[in-house]
Amino acid sequence: MIRIEGLRKTFHSRGRPVTAVDGVDLTVAEGEVFGVVGRSGAGKSTLLRCVNLLERPDEGHVTVDGVELTALRDDRLRQARQGIGMIHQHFALLASRTAADNVSFALEVMGVPRRERAVRVAELLDLVGLADRAGAYPAQLSGGQKQRVGIARALASRPRLLLSDEATSALDPDTTGAILSLLRGLTQRLGLTILLITHEMEVVKRLCDAVAIMRDGRFVESGPVAELISRTDSQLARDIFPLGPVPTVPGHLLYDVTLAGTVGDEAFVSRLTRRHDLDVRIVAGAVEQLAATRAGRLRIALPEAAPGLADALGDLRTAGFGVEAAR
Ligand SMILES: Nc1ncnc2c1ncn2[C@@H]1O[C@H](COP(=O)(O)OP(=O)(O)OP(=O)(O)O)[C@@H](O)[C@H]1O
Ligand SMILES: [Mg+2]
Repeated sequence: MIRIEGLRKTFHSRGRPVTAVDGVDLTVAEGEVFGVVGRSGAGKSTLLRCVNLLERPDEGHVTVDGVELTALRDDRLRQARQGIGMIHQHFALLASRTAADNVSFALEVMGVPRRERAVRVAELLDLVGLADRAGAYPAQLSGGQKQRVGIARALASRPRLLLSDEATSALDPDTTGAILSLLRGLTQRLGLTILLITHEMEVVKRLCDAVAIMRDGRFVESGPVAELISRTDSQLARDIFPLGPVPTVPGHLLYDVTLAGTVGDEAFVSRLTRRHDLDVRIVAGAVEQLAATRAGRLRIALPEAAPGLADALGDLRTAGFGVEAAR
């Protein structure tokens, strides 16, 4: 659905160049929810704005749904953009228009006749669960309701791709959960593809099939969530399953064990105790049901002097668990 190659964008502020996006390649498959995470200033918003060419990249190619946007002239680009919806952190609604009129406005801009607009607006508000608030003004809506209007408006042109820049960052955890469920449902019902930016691990856990970690304009890690978290060197795994500082357990060595997918169903502790005669202490742990898979990380302490230790670690790795010394 999205193919980005060699994307670069440099800003010049007060005579100083800032390279916000520094050579990004990205592929998002149709129907996939792809998340970009990273610290403030990493270049996430700039990357997103380059996907619909709100920002013209200096270098690189952006192809959406088979059309190379970077090769289009302005009039064709405007048309192609209709296939891409966008939702924002602060909703960007018109304060002087009702929920219905905010959605209708998007249709008006596209030249949809009045009668058709009314039908479509009702459909869209219903889709996002806001049919009963059609006549409310933004000031009369909660944050979650405002974002629902924002989503309805983004879907007005029946886009196949939705871009989202921190759509839940201004919302409380419960409301965030409801909006994430709505977005998940929409990907399935409408066959939407979503490219989203977030700094919340909750969003990655609940919504994303694949993710990239961005730092200083580059992707430092990217791939399917299920694959990344099963890698012992993954920053994402550490972020999703934080185990805290490593304690000292006298006479023991500490290991972090990653369990991903079906591996998580295996009773690996009893495997260690029965097969290798090891006493296993669990020091810390986190297991989560993710959108993509069920997974977790456990920090265990194993007796340093146990003769079966090396064999046991090898056995775990062979069985598909990620095992590394805790650090
Ligand atoms: N229009 C602009 N003019 C000058 N510099 C810019 C412009 N837009 C972004 N930048 C700079 O580019 C870098 C990346 O900014 P960007 O907004 O893409 O980061 P971000 O990852 O979205 O951050 P945040 O999480 O805070 O939203 C920053 O150093 C920022 O100051
Ligand atoms: Mg940003």
